[in-house]
Amino acid sequence: MQQHSHENSATWVAAAVSKQAFDHEQEQISKVWNLVGYVSDIPNNGDWFTTTLGQYSIFVQRDEDRIVAFENKCAHRFYPLRNAQKGNGPIVCGFHHWRFNMSGEAIGIPKSIALFGGKPREVCKRLNTLDVETCGELIFARFPNSTHQETLAEFLGDGYGLIAALGSPRIKPYRFEQDVPTHWKFLHHISLDDYHPVAVHPDTFGKNGYLKPETVQYFRFGRHSAFFHTSETVSLSDVSAACAANTYQPRHYMIVNIFPNFLISCYDAKDIFGTNHWYASAIRYRALSPSRTMVESWLYPTIFDEPKTRMSVALRPMVDRFMPPIVAYFAKKIMREDNVICAGLQATAHQIRDEQLLGTFERRIGWFEEAYADLLGHGAQVNHD
Ligand code: FES
Ligand SMILES: [Fe+2]
Repeated sequence: MQQHSHENSATWVAAAVSKQAFDHEQEQISKVWNLVGYVSDIPNNGDWFTTTLGQYSIFVQRDEDRIVAFENKCAHRFYPLRNAQKGNGPIVCGFHHWRFNMSGEAIGIPKSIALFGGKPREVCKRLNTLDVETCGELIFARFPNSTHQETLAEFLGDGYGLIAALGSPRIKPYRFEQDVPTHWKFLHHISLDDYHPVAVHPDTFGKNGYLKPETVQYFRFGRHSAFFHTSETVSLSDVSAACAANTYQPRHYMIVNIFPNFLISCYDAKDIFGTNHWYASAIRYRALSPSRTMVESWLYPTIFDEPKTRMSVALRPMVDRFMPPIVAYFAKKIMREDNVICAGLQATAHQIRDEQLLGTFERRIGWFEEAYADLLGHGAQVNHD
């Protein structure tokens, strides 16, 4: 058993209990690649959206064919540059009208020479610029730092090709959010847990009973992991290579959990005509406080959802319009069931003194906790079955 020095709770759960531990956790998380949004959130030049990375407000903006991101804080006297969820336009501060270019440099300062003794270039103030990379339509960002400098491709490793494919919606994603009173890790844990569906989702995921071990394939790659529900032996790098070559066709449920706080699941959804569609649900667990998380979801047909018959080609516009909200109805129900469990765990978090006992169908939680402990700079202890 490990003790956190400021709380009487186990180290792995400290950030759910202590603001100080949460601050440390979020600071470390802001230094590794985090999913911040989809390219389709900013389709036009100048489009931007705000979000948070760790505990920092940031904004992400399209500049022609590249995507840039900045800390949402003016370089003059720190007023937020963006004060809405999304918008379009140049970076001009509302406090004193300083203007910044897409490299973050102050290029317009009212009365610059008279009041600041030089031209904007000489005043030489700039915004904090984030590292940004994309994988498929997924936008990842991090605060530049000396510890974590790997490229996004290095970070995603063997999963890159599959994640790029699953992260490329065929149509604009259907989006929804849930504000859940729990630490984000309880939510990510339950998404890594293939043991709970019988108890928690008895009329959906769990209705056929416990998984048969021979149909469960787990992959660990870098800090991340995946579950394929199949008895076929497959390799993640082969699947990624096939995705990159455009030859992959999914045949089973899969979920890819990307450290620290993002996942994409892919499943076969049936429309009212009985036709199957490969849909994806992507979820980001955006931490708001030790005990509160904004669960952000993107739901969409994947690029694997190709019509097979003339009939399904003809019906596609209608199916694309009506199917996402129906699939979302079931996704939200499943998520609400998980949220109840996670809120319960939050209520007992301050009483948790021990490591978790993890069975075979929970082993990915152990892998996740090892990556988490490594990021935070303390060793993980996991009780395996
Ligand atoms: S705080 Fe932004 S221009 Fe002054
Ligand atoms: Fe669940």
